[in-house]
Amino acid sequence: MPLLAIETTCDETAAAVIDRSRRVLSSVVASQDDLHARWRGVVPEVASRAHVERIIPVIDEAVTRAGVSKESLVAVAVAVRPGLVGSLLVGLCAAKGIAAVLGVPLVGYDHIAAHLYACRLAHPERIRYPCVGLVASGGHTSLFHLHGPLELERLGGTIDDAAGEAFDKAAALLGLGYPGGPWIERVAAGGNPAAHRFPRPLVNDRERLDLSFSGLKTALRYRVRPPASPFGAAPAAGPSLDPPLPTGQALADLAASFQQAVVDAIVAKVDLALARTGCRVLAVGGGVTANAALRGALESLGRKRRIDVLIPPRELCTDNAAMGAIAWERLERGEDDGLELDVTPGTDRSAARRPSP
Ligand code: KG4
Ligand code: ZN
Repeated sequence: MPLLAIETTCDETAAAVIDRSRRVLSSVVASQDDLHARWRGVVPEVASRAHVERIIPVIDEAVTRAGVSKESLVAVAVAVRPGLVGSLLVGLCAAKGIAAVLGVPLVGYDHIAAHLYACRLAHPERIRYPCVGLVASGGHTSLFHLHGPLELERLGGTIDDAAGEAFDKAAALLGLGYPGGPWIERVAAGGNPAAHRFPRPLVNDRERLDLSFSGLKTALRYRVRPPASPFGAAPAAGPSLDPPLPTGQALADLAASFQQAVVDAIVAKVDLALARTGCRVLAVGGGVTANAALRGALESLGRKRRIDVLIPPRELCTDNAAMGAIAWERLERGEDDGLELDVTPGTDRSAARRPSP
């Protein structure tokens, strides 16, 4: 009695088949990284067109790999917020079509809540509510007090860039590839995280659970290419006088120091959220939580505070449709959005990953 989940919030076209016991029978993700790499960020129109081309093959593949027939699907679930409006609509249209033809319930779900539900999939015996939730991805970096899988109370988060966006832009500044997080992580492995002291904005503010990454990005920019002195001579016309991009150990040290600053800032606010709520469980999700340095730092915070830290395997941290299993929580409450279901993209900076300037 499985459901089909569809995920097209940003630049991954994904479908999964999950049975009522939350067993993932199949999970297929078609990444668009190659299409967006030259822009070093997601171009919304390119993303939605690619979703149109891929959505049906991805769904077919998910159903085939699950070894079930389409007729055996008991519901269709689709991520309806937050995300890029064009991308979301492709998933919604596909979901509506399948639900209508099969005559089964159609259930929308929240992508952010689903990132945290990946902890329920990975650690069903350990998840407990209330708990603290951290979502760190390309579009979001937020802390929640989770009263249940669907009951998210936002405690705070970034006031400017998301952590993943900072990784993507830092990688661009360092001349690395896209998406930036895995590149920075790889290069940082040979670097000294204490080589550069980058800012950790707001970490000493014990009143607010807010984070900020835009100043860190600027600090890296000036470390890579120091600004011209306002008192110096005007630059001569002709070829750029910019110093060459760092390579070798210098590059590794910059990447490692940048990564450490992001990790320290996130861990400080997670620590504060745990202290404030008194929760004994931390659930994390989103692409940035695939980062080994962040995972290690959260685990050591857990040991220090003697709390249980739930971190999904990497493939469940980045965007996927298996986490659409959260729709079972709504179905079990008898909820069905029907064909009136619509998307709610969200309008602020958190809804999209902008390309680098
Ligand atoms: O959750 P996700 O797949 O998509 C969104 O919902 O945004 O997150 C993608 C983000 C990208 O910014 C990417 O650079 C970052 O997650 N990311 C990482 C790592 N893997 C992906 N950041 C740091 N370290 C990683 N290993
Ligand atoms: Zn995501």
